[in-house]
Amino acid sequence: MNKKFLARNVVQDQLEGLDTKLLRRKLRTTFSPCDVKSNVDQRELKAFCSNDYLGFANHPKLIMAMTEGAKQYGVGSGASHLISGHSITHDLLEKKLASFESAHIPNARALFFSTGYLANITAITGLVRLVNQGEASIYSAALNHASIIDGVKLASAQSKAKVTIFNHLDLESLSTPLKNDQHPFKIIVLDGVFSMDGDIAPVKELIEIAQTYDALLIIDDAHGFGVLGKQGHGILEHFDVCSERIVYLGTLGKAAGVSGAFICASSPFIEWLIQKGRPYIYSTATPPAIAHALYASLELIESDEGIHRRAHLNELIDIWRTEMNFKRWQKMKSITPIQPVILGSNANALAAAKLLDEAGYWIPAIRPPTVPENSARLRITLSANHTIDDLRALMRTLEAIEQSIVHGG
Ligand SMILES: Cc1ncc(COP(=O)(O)O)c(C=O)c1O
Repeated sequence: MNKKFLARNVVQDQLEGLDTKLLRRKLRTTFSPCDVKSNVDQRELKAFCSNDYLGFANHPKLIMAMTEGAKQYGVGSGASHLISGHSITHDLLEKKLASFESAHIPNARALFFSTGYLANITAITGLVRLVNQGEASIYSAALNHASIIDGVKLASAQSKAKVTIFNHLDLESLSTPLKNDQHPFKIIVLDGVFSMDGDIAPVKELIEIAQTYDALLIIDDAHGFGVLGKQGHGILEHFDVCSERIVYLGTLGKAAGVSGAFICASSPFIEWLIQKGRPYIYSTATPPAIAHALYASLELIESDEGIHRRAHLNELIDIWRTEMNFKRWQKMKSITPIQPVILGSNANALAAAKLLDEAGYWIPAIRPPTVPENSARLRITLSANHTIDDLRALMRTLEAIEQSIVHGG
């Protein structure tokens, strides 16, 4: 037997270290479809934690579309898009996605990806390859999603791009370094709706900055697509902006209820990513049945039903914003379905999540490194499938739990 096995000892120490800092994450298993009522580890809980903002993940029309798609196109694509995996249903989906953003991006074309993580990595690493090594400069917002952070790190390692992190929603800290930046090619990249905070990027001002300093603006609207804008087209519709500098990224596993993501930009940028976006080129195309279901989801987003669901969601958001008050915990200024409550310490956030679980709610504690140190939180998310009574019952439970945690020290 081989007695020396360093990796085994190291992994044990590392995992114990996570336990000591209350940072070990745990997988929980659902036995029901993603919906407000969830069977989690064989217990019924009311979920306020998914990104299924419109309640589409278990929608009968989309289940039917997925089934039809599988019957028509089979279950696998068999290869990457550039080999033989690009089917007519991918093509139709991309055209429909481009139509969603065409009022906001001139000459819009869309490219479909299997995940938002992959789309961010592809957009950032692919676009810096437009110029020579060391010629690109990337400005990335401090609270960006991990997939942007990883895309920026990879772009920096591969293309020697300079990276500047600017402060959360602080445009001064973006424009000041841009003024003196001599790099020929600049990219600004940020979440449209910040995933752990729920607040929104000031897109109009960002476009002005991008124009002033001749930069591209990548907006990751993972949490705005389907939710923001009258027709659910996302943050660009919400702000009613149009610019050829925008590289828009939307995800399709959140409000759209299925899976995947897309990049939409002026056609030459998309053509470039098809040529040079390595994660796109070297990854098997998403099953066409998923693209088929997504097409049906886009139709629903724009339909009267989509409009009604967004109206109900906005009513829930208003109730939370106006009626929920905490004594010690902190609410965020968010007009989106992401309504985090900041508790600070990991111990408090874990204790609150446990008490919520005992009261029949599923709202996990979000801790570093997903959020900054000492800002552990309950990331409460609202869905069009929640009723007003569901929300008010949660609010009463949270008030009671805040009291009990304060009294219990
Ligand atoms: C802002 C943001 N971008 C990208 C992603 C990644 O998307 P996906 O889950 O499709 O990989 C997420 C996922 O949570 C996100 O919140």
